[in-house]
Amino acid sequence: MNPLGDPFNGNSPAPLHMIDILRKKRDGAALTAREIEYVVAGAASGAIPLEQLAAWLMAAWIRGLTLDETRALTLAMRDSGEKFSPAPLGKAAVDKHSSGGVGDKTSFLVAPLAAACGVAVPMISGRALGHTGGTLDKLESIPGYRTALTLKEFEEVLKKCGCSIVGQTPTLVPADRVLYALRDRTATVENASLICASILSKKLAAGLNALVLDVKTGSGAFLRNEKDCEFLAALMVATAEAAGTRTAALLTDMGQPLGRAAGNWIELAEAVELLRGNRPPYSEDLRELSLILAGWMIALGGQAATPESGYERAEAALMDGSALRIFLAMVEAQGGDANVFEDPVGFHRPGATAVVEAWESGFITEMDTTALGWAVQRTGAGREKAGEPVDPHAGILFHARRGAKVERGEPLATIYATREAMLPEPSELLRGAITISGTCPEFVPQVSRIFTRENAGKYLEDAVR
Ligand code: URA
Repeated sequence: MNPLGDPFNGNSPAPLHMIDILRKKRDGAALTAREIEYVVAGAASGAIPLEQLAAWLMAAWIRGLTLDETRALTLAMRDSGEKFSPAPLGKAAVDKHSSGGVGDKTSFLVAPLAAACGVAVPMISGRALGHTGGTLDKLESIPGYRTALTLKEFEEVLKKCGCSIVGQTPTLVPADRVLYALRDRTATVENASLICASILSKKLAAGLNALVLDVKTGSGAFLRNEKDCEFLAALMVATAEAAGTRTAALLTDMGQPLGRAAGNWIELAEAVELLRGNRPPYSEDLRELSLILAGWMIALGGQAATPESGYERAEAALMDGSALRIFLAMVEAQGGDANVFEDPVGFHRPGATAVVEAWESGFITEMDTTALGWAVQRTGAGREKAGEPVDPHAGILFHARRGAKVERGEPLATIYATREAMLPEPSELLRGAITISGTCPEFVPQVSRIFTRENAGKYLEDAVR
């Protein structure tokens, strides 16, 4: 026996070495929590070189991580930096996370709706990348709105308004910053355990009591395969519940853009129109999903007995204007000019506009939502590389939904681009992404499956068997 202990047994007090951990994972063995903590600490501090971290990510991607390894990775990443404590707010802290999509602006609705019903919503959001939009970019189309708050400022806005939507601070979950950038460069993004740990570590570092996950399915989803979406949803629920956060995951349809606007300012304008209690055309799916998600947030946060009664409370807060008042107060508390919502159309100043008309008569049978997301990005509303600026006034307004009957020449969408020369590309992408045919497509429900602590564990047991 080696007097220093067995370096291959992670429970021994012997010092750990990254090369041994790499060999162990490469050969398909499960790592101990201590070994995973070692990797995460080394990623956050820079003590482990990037080539070894990259090799570990690839080994983890190919060999897979067990449920215990996934939980250990999530918790170690959560604890890799500063954390937010919602205790001074004196309310249950509840957030919603969406796995991304096109036209997904539910955050602007669910945050004030849940806050109006008595829970605190400390929401840490991301930016647009690839075909999906980013909540922070959309909010920054409001003149003056600050997304980079200190944790102290975040707490002050939460105390004042009940919700706050900000970006990740440099000190929150530093391990994810390093590992996510490496995953992006080493083809190791699409792995349920790595995605679960990356998403949950950031949510759990905000000290949440409860979390609602909106996992997208369909042509615009990050994971296209329905079974992969289910596995990820169940894994996130089981992992977050094991960390003490009440969690539900809803699988929701991203087989067409959510609502009628996809872009930056135009999405905020649509959300605020709903918060005013209006029912604009083609926004019904957005209204419904926002109320469902808010209902779950309110129920898991202890302010309603069931998600259905949470839905009713949220709808009342939508119709009596209390959620709108909270949203506008949050905008002002974060330095934004809330007056722009008085004339949303007047404030909208796109560089160039074009209307795409139906090229034949029939039903809209399919919308390739990922391609539509790229069309939105090409208007100038999104970015190709991290750090690039986005155009607040660019985007696409849809005038028809899946299942709609359209006549040749009828407007399908209005494209708002930064410059005239940028109009043809998104117009072409849009024409290629929409299928018009003679048959009406089948109805697709907005929510196809729900995972909670009652069914997630069993699902995972069956899936890994
Ligand atoms: N979003 C994240 O934050 N992390 C992932 O791994 C995937 C999506």
